[in-house]
Amino acid sequence: MPKKKKTNEILPKELDASQDIDRFLSPEIEEQEEIIEVSLRPRSLKEYIGQEKIKEGLKVFIDAAKKRGEALEHSLFYGPPGIGKTTLALIIGNELGVRTKVTSGPAIERPGDLAAILTSLESGDVLFIDEIHRLNRIVEEILYPAMEDRAIDIMIGKGPGARSMRIELNPFTIIGATTKIGSLSAPLRDRFGSVFNLDFYNEDEIAQIIGRSAKILNTEIEKEALTELAARSRFTPRIANRLLKRTRDFADVRHDGKINKEIVREALEMLDIDSLGLDKGDKKILFSIIQNFNGGPVGLDTLAASTSEEKETIEDVYEPYLLRIGFLERTPRGRKVTGKAMAHLGVKSNPQDGLL
Ligand SMILES: Nc1ncnc2c1ncn2[C@@H]1O[C@H](COP(=O)(O)OP(=O)(O)OP(=O)(O)O)[C@@H](O)[C@H]1O
Ligand SMILES: [Mg+2]
Repeated sequence: MPKKKKTNEILPKELDASQDIDRFLSPEIEEQEEIIEVSLRPRSLKEYIGQEKIKEGLKVFIDAAKKRGEALEHSLFYGPPGIGKTTLALIIGNELGVRTKVTSGPAIERPGDLAAILTSLESGDVLFIDEIHRLNRIVEEILYPAMEDRAIDIMIGKGPGARSMRIELNPFTIIGATTKIGSLSAPLRDRFGSVFNLDFYNEDEIAQIIGRSAKILNTEIEKEALTELAARSRFTPRIANRLLKRTRDFADVRHDGKINKEIVREALEMLDIDSLGLDKGDKKILFSIIQNFNGGPVGLDTLAASTSEEKETIEDVYEPYLLRIGFLERTPRGRKVTGKAMAHLGVKSNPQDGLL
């Protein structure tokens, strides 16, 4: 057995890196969540809460496109999972009063598939491509002339007799969504007339989102309980709705159905979610940096190996929120846990001796 370092003592047993943690708070969509998401999804800009600057800009573009009778310019939305990208893309089609076709990067396997979709679009239609960073290169190349010249070039025949034929398309709008703007190729990114960054919501906006959802779900919720839920929702609408639904179940089964502050606390305690919305997954990452790397900095690959989490999961799922609340810092040499995180976790720091 390797000799235990003094710092090992601070790692709670249940956060052992070899353990696989089922993350209730993952901002990614879960199976069976889709149906309820559809019922809670705002359908107009008016119903869409927050992201005020983006809404304002979009409203101008939409009104201008409608006035001129033209297709909206190609638009790209990026931001963390569960933040409202798909919702906003679908709202645009509604506001324009046009049809929206929905597809995704991994769903389009061959150039011919995309060509078929593009040629079927009617004037003004919106084509929403989710996870657009996952389009493969050959498919992507069909999009370049489609977006720029409203045409596609297809090859007819094979060998020396093959020739290229250009097909003109109806005016249309591509709306792309991605959680990974950095993975999008420059030529594709440059073909979007507008690019919108959807950022985390503030607590007040999240409370409004929860209030709206509670109304739709016919659930009574006290104001204080709203605030309490909002504080633990990681500034993310999908998580806010998920916490609301779980708390509602709890209130129905153990109480009279009405949600108050105590019920929120009880329910979230049962789910192992703390006062800042951190769960075991976050704590595993933070404790691993503190325990194994003396608080950091530690490179992403090393951190992934030591926590047995995928690199991508750390980057896309855990990190954005931990960075946002100032619990992690990204330095050129890797990730560092901050004093603020140490204080929240109840870990003492010793300035002489590194973090511990
Ligand atoms: N601004 C908002 N106002 C009210 N509800 C919202 C808002 N944004 C998102 N939601 C709710 O959160 C849910 C998740 O949003 P959405 O599916 O649009 O996220 P996303 O950014 O597309 O996530 P992913 O990256 O996983 O595809 C929606 O079903 C909707 O109910
Ligand atoms: Mg989406």
